[in-house]
Amino acid sequence: MPLGEILISQKEIGRRTKMLANEIRKHYQGSPVVFLGLLNGGLFFLADLLRNIPDPVEVECWRLKSYLGETVHSSGKVNGFEHASGHFKGNHVVVVDDILDSGLTLSEVRAHLLNIGAQSVKTCVLLDKKRASSQPVKADWVGFEIANQFVVGYGMDYNGYHRNLPDIHLFVPETAKTEHKF
Ligand code: IMP
Ligand code: MG
Repeated sequence: MPLGEILISQKEIGRRTKMLANEIRKHYQGSPVVFLGLLNGGLFFLADLLRNIPDPVEVECWRLKSYLGETVHSSGKVNGFEHASGHFKGNHVVVVDDILDSGLTLSEVRAHLLNIGAQSVKTCVLLDKKRASSQPVKADWVGFEIANQFVVGYGMDYNGYHRNLPDIHLFVPETAKTEHKF
């Protein structure tokens, strides 16, 4: 059974999300903001974060992909910008994603938004994976820092599964388990 122990519980996620929402509200002081959620992983976090932000904000979503199929490694390329649209020109944008791993996704999204005329771009991620190699971007708001392990649940998947779990779990694919047997 590759689904491992709970790393961060639903309750801890809820508490931290409320704190992040308050920090974001304090930063913008009621100015107009567009929240851009990255699907599918950022879906649950975006919804919970926004339910703690009662200001009149706009919401957009983009569907991008950097992981393809049965793998726990990024493809090193972000696909999907050709379908990315929305009302960003001249606006403050907060990009919301599940996890900052290599940082490739957020740095490409940030560059794209500035290129199409966003006034400012900030980033908010639930998890920041601490990696040996340096990341090209730092997130402005981070829920939790975690070790360089693969996780699923609360929006995050392995090959499309486990997004619906309410807690965040560690995940070890069967092949990785076999590789480490000896
Ligand atoms: P990055 O471009 O390498 O920063 O990758 C970010 C994206 O990869 C995230 O938005 C997730 O969709 C996915 N990802 C990275 N690490 C994990 C993980 O541990 N579990 C599930 N998805 C992950
Ligand atoms: Mg993602």
